[in-house]
Amino acid sequence: MISTRRGSEHARILATGARRPDRVVTNEEICEVLDSSDEWIRTRTGIVTRRFAAPGETVVDLAAPAAEQAVQRAGLAAGDIDAVIVATSTHMVSMPSAAALTAARIGAGPATTFDLSTACAGFTHGVAVANDLIRGGSARHVLLVGVDRMTDVVDPTDRGSAMIFGDGAGAAVIGPSDTPGIGPTIWGSDADQWEALYQTASWTEYRDQVGQARRTGGEEPDWPVITMMGPKIFRWAVWEMAGVARKALEAAEVDVADLAAFIPHQANVRIIDQMAKQLKLPDQVVIARDVIDAGNTTGASIPLAMDRLISEGQVTSGGLALLIGFGAGLSFSAQVVRLP
Ligand code: COA
Repeated sequence: MISTRRGSEHARILATGARRPDRVVTNEEICEVLDSSDEWIRTRTGIVTRRFAAPGETVVDLAAPAAEQAVQRAGLAAGDIDAVIVATSTHMVSMPSAAALTAARIGAGPATTFDLSTACAGFTHGVAVANDLIRGGSARHVLLVGVDRMTDVVDPTDRGSAMIFGDGAGAAVIGPSDTPGIGPTIWGSDADQWEALYQTASWTEYRDQVGQARRTGGEEPDWPVITMMGPKIFRWAVWEMAGVARKALEAAEVDVADLAAFIPHQANVRIIDQMAKQLKLPDQVVIARDVIDAGNTTGASIPLAMDRLISEGQVTSGGLALLIGFGAGLSFSAQVVRLP
């Protein structure tokens, strides 16, 4: 016989934290190298400014302060954390994980650590995993960080992507609860559509091309970047993701009228507004539009948007929020949570 463990009956988000890089980048600055205009970017994406990390400021440098803030706001010490999960697509070393380095940096060393790679769905995937770890008895307090430094993987001259992305980190501490705080997660992928958003070459292809160029005296290749079929993702997000969000509401048995906030992945204001329209959200539901001055920060977008609504007092503790993450993979996840 194997003896098994059972955890807390329920879990909930206890606190959030954020790290927004210092440098604010306007559309005018983006257009210094991009063939576009402030007006086009505002109308098509809703983005007015975004933040860029400083040279040498890594995803771990961004993750650590957000993590520390969340742990402190949860009334915990780093040593109380049992698991650190970092959702990121831009940790530029293959090992150790960004989670291990973040845990070491903040003094949560004994915790189990691992990264999660589902791009813009990273945070909502992480909420699902943390919830199951706590309810299954594998961890009591989970630190979840969504972080990306998109400036490393975006071509500033690419009209299809350069104006959209920004850098940042958002964190949440998730822990045991006497009452339900995280609804069932509706998740999955449309993996057949992975070519809608991908990196143009692998690091090994890049290395081999550089080697070849140096041997032959040819031109060195460009640094690998992401390429995106914007309109295709736009249609997928608007038409498919509202259905996923609806299923998350049904699974949690929550009506739109009971929501305090809608916090979707911050991809584009037009996508957010279309989804809100399709979900028929009543006027009192606060809709997160952090993308306007944060840009699309990939794994960081949902926790940053949540942290802002809480910090600015736009929502009150205990209110229900519908979260949905979607992006490269193509992958998606959604759930209803109780706000810290
Ligand atoms: N600046 C100025 N003009 C641009 C441009 C840019 N950066 N990019 C495209 N255009 C032009 C096109 O050439 C086209 O011109 P035409 O009508 O004369 O042919 C016109 O604008 C429309 O192009 P289109 O690509 O259809 O634009 P769009 O309205 O779909 O907007 C995105 C493009 C990328 C902003 C939009 O598709 C989007 O946000 N998609 C979602 C992507 C996303 O958020 N991904 C993140 C991962 S979750």
